[in-house]
Amino acid sequence: MNLAIIGTGYVGLVAGTCFAESGNDVICVDIDEAKISALKAGKVPIYEPGLEELVRRNTEEQRLSFTTDLKAAVKQSSIVFIAVGTPQNSDGKANIEQVLATAKVIAQAMNGSKIVVNKSTVPVGTADEIHIVIKDTTTHPFAVVSNPEFLKEGAAVEDFMKPDRVVLGSEDSQAIAILKELYEPFVRTGNPILVMDARSAEMSKYAANAMLATKISFINEIASLCEKTGADVGEVRRAIGLDRRIGPHFIFPGVGYGGSCFPKDIRAMISMGEPGLEMPLLRAVEQVNERQKSVLVEKVKRHFGPDLSGRTLAVWGLSFKPRTDDMRDAPSVTVVESLLKAGAQVQAYDPEAMGEAKKLFGKRIRYSSRNYDALKGADALLIVTEWNEFRRPNFQHIKDLLKNSVIFDGRNIYDPGELRRLGFTYYSIGRKDG
Ligand SMILES: NC(=O)c1ccc[n+]([C@@H]2O[C@H](COP(=O)([O-])OP(=O)(O)OC[C@H]3O[C@@H](n4cnc5c(N)ncnc54)[C@H](O)[C@@H]3O)[C@@H](O)[C@H]2O)c1
Repeated sequence: MNLAIIGTGYVGLVAGTCFAESGNDVICVDIDEAKISALKAGKVPIYEPGLEELVRRNTEEQRLSFTTDLKAAVKQSSIVFIAVGTPQNSDGKANIEQVLATAKVIAQAMNGSKIVVNKSTVPVGTADEIHIVIKDTTTHPFAVVSNPEFLKEGAAVEDFMKPDRVVLGSEDSQAIAILKELYEPFVRTGNPILVMDARSAEMSKYAANAMLATKISFINEIASLCEKTGADVGEVRRAIGLDRRIGPHFIFPGVGYGGSCFPKDIRAMISMGEPGLEMPLLRAVEQVNERQKSVLVEKVKRHFGPDLSGRTLAVWGLSFKPRTDDMRDAPSVTVVESLLKAGAQVQAYDPEAMGEAKKLFGKRIRYSSRNYDALKGADALLIVTEWNEFRRPNFQHIKDLLKNSVIFDGRNIYDPGELRRLGFTYYSIGRKDG
């Protein structure tokens, strides 16, 4: 099939590449000329495991191409995906201007029947708005399908290739039949393609993210209560996770959720209820998360005192989660800013997010090209993102490099007993640390 994907970000580039990998001819479109030039030169502008190789192969085999010419891409395609950003407005609402602007240009470029598929996360009712925009602009026949994307950054290619489910929202049975055919190679293990109305499809994406964010805030609140009462959240997590109604996944305490989706999607949902429908649960999820982002620095201040001037702190992990370079709404930003505000010097290392970090912090922090370099002369180490390479470090080397043998672990990746035996003062989240 001939596909155009509008918006070549984390979602659009992965989707376009994976569709090309299954044999389709795909044109990825973006308004960002630098991004498209880089892709044309074979450079993938984001870090996503496995993506670069797939982009290279499919580009070489001429199934995947890149352009800034949206209209030309639409003319050559029978299915057009919208995968542009839906950032948050200052009032918390999702901003769908990019989506509607894209729909308008798609309509202007139409030269025959098209299926317009929206992948961006959008408030319920947006598919109807897309429909109106296109209908007001063209007389060509078209269908609008809501196809929310559930991939996780850090495992996006794998998630796209083997989705737990594909959700298609539309009343147009012909368009649904074509999209089922398109997705068939991705669901060969029997995972379902769910067909529903567009509003339910749009809501499914928000509801999934809200549930996941709720799980994180839930376990973080339990972790705080464990600290207050002398229980250990590691034990509690195992005990509750064995209940099949709860399950072991996604109940790891930490420094709060972040990224480009959960924070904005929770706020968008709260806004969707307004006026008239209060969303107390989601407000609490957000409130717990905001508090959680400060617990690690509070531990630092309890240890060293509230004034951190003269102190140097090493930070391992800046991306909002491992295996991505994405720092949008990352908890590390709150952690680093709080340390700086308290007067500390920060020396940071991240395997992939250093470029993004430099854009955010500029010269206000020091950057290390190796994880151990960040420790030189530092008073303590803070673990903020649980990259695999931080899990089994050389602790003796850490001790030798740090001025004080103190670790603040915001992701509970080390064993408190072992660290105590090795002579560290060790703080983690909701556990008995010593
Ligand atoms: N990142 C994720 O993990 C993820 C997962 C599922 C769903 N989503 C949703 O998917 C959407 C895209 O997210 P993302 O993370 O890929 O965003 P992104 O910011 O990485 O990419 C969006 C791209 O769209 C481009 N763009 C904006 N307006 C355009 C236009 N008029 N024409 C062409 N290109 C245009 C931007 O330049 C950018 O490259 C959002 O709604 C997001 O909520 C994201």
